[in-house]
Amino acid sequence: MAETFLAAGHEVSVWNRTASKADPLIAQGARRAATAADGELLVVSQISYQAMYDSLGDARLDGKTVVNLSSGTPDELRAAGRWVAERGGTLITAGIMVPPPGIGQPGAYTFYSGPKDALDRHAGTLEALSELTYVGADQGLAMMFYQAQLLMFWSSLTSHMHAMALLRTAGVRPEEYLPFAQTLFSQLGGDGPMGYAKILTEEFAAGVYPGELNSLHMQAVGLGHAVDALAEAGVETTVPNALKHLFERAVAEGRGGEGLGTVIESIRKP
Ligand SMILES: NC(=O)c1ccc[n+]([C@@H]2O[C@H](COP(=O)([O-])OP(=O)(O)OC[C@H]3O[C@@H](n4cnc5c(N)ncnc54)[C@H](OP(=O)(O)O)[C@@H]3O)[C@@H](O)[C@H]2O)c1
Repeated sequence: MAETFLAAGHEVSVWNRTASKADPLIAQGARRAATAADGELLVVSQISYQAMYDSLGDARLDGKTVVNLSSGTPDELRAAGRWVAERGGTLITAGIMVPPPGIGQPGAYTFYSGPKDALDRHAGTLEALSELTYVGADQGLAMMFYQAQLLMFWSSLTSHMHAMALLRTAGVRPEEYLPFAQTLFSQLGGDGPMGYAKILTEEFAAGVYPGELNSLHMQAVGLGHAVDALAEAGVETTVPNALKHLFERAVAEGRGGEGLGTVIESIRKP
């Protein structure tokens, strides 16, 4: 991020707990900040919100805008908003949706939440990083959108790993499977009969999950077979097995005749 700000011609001061990690940025023209609170716009990216508390300590933040792109829970972010406000500053929370090589590149976007006027004041600077996607005044919201995306990212990619591992046990190379994985990922996001992102959205909005032609019961049995297939092949089964239990719970709750989408009702009520 600091490199991207520098490349965009901004004046950048850098601070990191392990100061030596900032050396390459100093060599590129950044100034070494004396403290983490040095500056009017503080862009923070650390392992957690606790790291922000540890870094800023008891510094006053009067008139400063803190944009924190670190991970945490939505409630932690809301509490951080109050903490920054008590010190005279304004907290904008954020979640960037690309890994470091994507920062500043086309297609990069960041969820932002918090006071819109503070974000607007710094939008011209922040747009060096990515497109700005403002999701609301509630400081927990940026993280909820970010985590929504990451839950899909992690679970869909882990299921891809299970798929490759299963096929590998029969000698199928991952490159042979790739076209099928790509077809599935693009179809799920599309509008056709496999366009389940949209189908589930419409079903969830309506609270109706039609399942006459492909019931949850049939899919729970099929998932059980897939878990058995993984075990038979000597591949680990933790996540598919957890999914199987979730599907079976929805069936046990009496909704086996509905469609796959009805599982969301069990997810909402643990
Ligand atoms: N990397 C990605 O692809 C990516 C993408 C989107 C969002 N994010 C989010 O961005 C944040 C940073 O990710 P990263 O990849 O840069 O993580 P990282 O490489 O693990 O860096 C963690 C940073 O946190 C600092 N830190 C940890 N504990 C601290 C403490 N108690 N006090 C002060 N500083 C502390 C570390 O300082 P030291 O150098 O002194 O250890 C380091 O600068 C995370 O919240 C992550 O979820 C990352």
